[in-house]
Formats: sequence, structure tokens, C-alpha cells
Amino acid sequence: MKQEIDKSNIPAHIAIIMDGNGRWAKKNGSMRVKGHQHGVKSVREVTEAAGELGVKYLTMYAFSTENWSRPEYEVTALMHLLVSTIRKEARNLNKNNIKLMAIGNVESLPSVCQKELNEAIKLTKDNTGLNLVLALSYSGRWEIVNATKKIAEDVKAGKIDADKLDDNLFASYLETGVKGIPDPELMIRTSGEMRISNYLLWQIAYSELYITDTLWPDFNKEEFNKAILSYQQRERRFGKTSEQLSKVN
Ligand code: FPP
Repeated sequence: MKQEIDKSNIPAHIAIIMDGNGRWAKKNGSMRVKGHQHGVKSVREVTEAAGELGVKYLTMYAFSTENWSRPEYEVTALMHLLVSTIRKEARNLNKNNIKLMAIGNVESLPSVCQKELNEAIKLTKDNTGLNLVLALSYSGRWEIVNATKKIAEDVKAGKIDADKLDDNLFASYLETGVKGIPDPELMIRTSGEMRISNYLLWQIAYSELYITDTLWPDFNKEEFNKAILSYQQRERRFGKTSEQLSKVN
């Protein structure tokens, strides 16, 4: 399948909602935490596949603002998994020229998590290959409200003129804007739910959506390639007609 992929039309940014870890665990008669552990294998495999294809940004919804209200033991397990995975993988990411980044309310994470994350971010900061972006304690509404607060402060301080506010200026205040992350061309969601779940609400305005029934722990390179092939078969119109697009090309 990899051979069928058009290398000149790889999405620069792919965002993923990794869903179905709990259902995978239930199906396999194990605890939910086991599903998350197996989910890490998929994170590794998809990161490798994205790097090989030359994707520039891969953004993974690892922990949402809403996930804080899960049972305490599950939140703790997810934080432990995050720390142990980053600790284990940081050198490997660096070796593969991958730059680790994070978006979200990172300061709300336990300090050990912040420490491990910040060290790996620092270690990989000069890498020029794939940018692996973890969305942590992230939600689209949180990000938009946060950006709006900063804009209001800057207007009040006379740094920007409210009349000059437009899409581009607004986007520059979002987590992604501040970090130079472009909007995703493709958004993948596993486990069949037809929802956006407060993910990158501003940025997905024109993203192609790919939803698969495959549960995240079963999502592998082949499934990832399938999503890219599906993307390559779409016509992206950005509100225009097909005829207008063919005139441009
Ligand atoms: C959704 O499955 C998944 C999550 C809330 C967490 C995703 C986290 C990982 C894959 C592991 C940590 C990631 C990194 C980058 C180290 P769910 O629990 O909502 O599944 P369900 O809908 O079947 O219950």
C-alpha cells in the first residue's frame, strides 16, 4: 500500500484522535490501563510511519481537558504512562531527528510530567524532521478562550488594534500559532465515533476527516497509509466549485 501513496501529496500536518483504548481492553478481557499501554505501541508505529513519509507535523490527542474527570486511578495511570514513555523514547526521538512539542495547559500536569516533557522538548529542539506534537491537558475551547484573553490584554495595552483583528492575527495567538504549527490537512479518528471532541476546533476548519472503526491499539502503519490514500483521493475545494479549481490547475 505504501507504494500507492503519492509522495508529492503528503499532508504536512496530520492530527489524530486516538480513541478506543478502553474498548480494546474490554474486548481483550483486560483493564482499561492495558488498552492505553497498547496504545503507546500505536503511537510509536504511527510516528515512525509519518517520519518515513515526510509528514512535517503529527499532533496526537494524548490527554484532553475533559480527561481530568476520569477516575483518579486512570488519570494517574495515564500520567505515569506519559512519563515512562517520554523517558524511554526521548533519545530515540532525538536519534531519528524528531522534534517533540506540546500544546495545551501543560502547567496543569503533575510536575514530574512537566519535567520529563520539558527535558525531551529541550533535547530535541534543534531537530529538523517530523514535529511530534502532544496535545496534553488540551481542548479547543480552552485554547480559544486563552487566546482571546491574551488578545484582550494586548488590545488593552495598546499593542494591537482591535479593528485589525482578523483570522490570521487571531490564529497567531492560538497554541499552534505561537508554536508555528500549520492547520492540519487531515484529521484521523479511530474507533468509529463521529465526533470532534473539542480537538483543534479552530484549526480543522478545512481539514479532511478520516474516521475508521479500528480501535487505537490496533491502528498500525497499514491503517495510517490507508488514511493517507483516502486523503489523496479527495478533492479539497475550500468553498469553491470543482470547475473553479480545474481552471486554476
Ligand atoms: C482514548 O481511549 C485515549 C486516551 C484518552 C488517551 C490516549 C493515550 C495514549 C494512547 C497513551 C499515552 C500517549 C502518549 C503519547 C505517551 P479511551 O480510553 O477513550 O477509549 P474508549 O473510548 O474505548 O473508552
